[in-house]
Amino acid sequence: MQIIKLDAIDSTNVYLKDLVFNTQASDYTIVVAEKQTSGRGQMGTAWLADEGKNLTFSILKKCTDLSVQEQFDLNICVSVAIYRSLNDLKIPDLKIKWPNDILSGNHKICGVLIENILSGAKIQASIIGIGLNVNQLSFDNLPNVSSLKLITGIQYDLDELLKKIAKNLEEVFDYYFMVNKQDLKIEYLEQLFRKDKASTFSKDANDTMFTGIIRNVTSEGKLVLEEEDEIFNEYALKELKLRY
Ligand code: BTN
Repeated sequence: MQIIKLDAIDSTNVYLKDLVFNTQASDYTIVVAEKQTSGRGQMGTAWLADEGKNLTFSILKKCTDLSVQEQFDLNICVSVAIYRSLNDLKIPDLKIKWPNDILSGNHKICGVLIENILSGAKIQASIIGIGLNVNQLSFDNLPNVSSLKLITGIQYDLDELLKKIAKNLEEVFDYYFMVNKQDLKIEYLEQLFRKDKASTFSKDANDTMFTGIIRNVTSEGKLVLEEEDEIFNEYALKELKLRY
């Protein structure tokens, strides 16, 4: 596994994507930056992280035979690999929040931004961007965000943590591509935040609230909610907000 360490870059996802287009980057190439000047989050948001205190990196997964319809499987693999890595460190109350945030209790500690490079209806390669809050101690105005150090009081070695997550990602992807695809989905669902519990959601620009129970995730990655009168509805990420 090749690790490219950068002091500062706009976004490790952008850097790795350019690398894939311009060179023969090998599977599991990692780009890690001390600081991102334009870190990107899901749905066009910004990802902010204090310089040198957290892990902000992207890892390349080349795919040989994965269809666009199966792309949510990549989110499942990544969520499970990060979950396992943090579970090994005994971070308490870990959960995967759909689609692929990692929480400790009600607090987000890790976000994932996956950008796929397509070739027709196939995924040729996946750029997996991971932002893990590690040693940062304050998150201004973000009440539901935390870091490993805030939770455990321990100062973590970023290089060690990066290697641990990369090893788990390799293991999970090997299992997914060479052994069994269903097992990881089961593990993902077992760790899914608020599964089978009544929760409050909002689903439109007016923020109309409603109650639903998370029952499943479809193969395309939509969240399946059981609502009033046992009616089941499916939602894409931009259609829904979980209000806890
Ligand atoms: C989210 O909104 O939860 C996803 C955050 C993903 C952030 C990571 S940090 C490394 C990589 N480079 C980026 O620009 N974004 C991802």
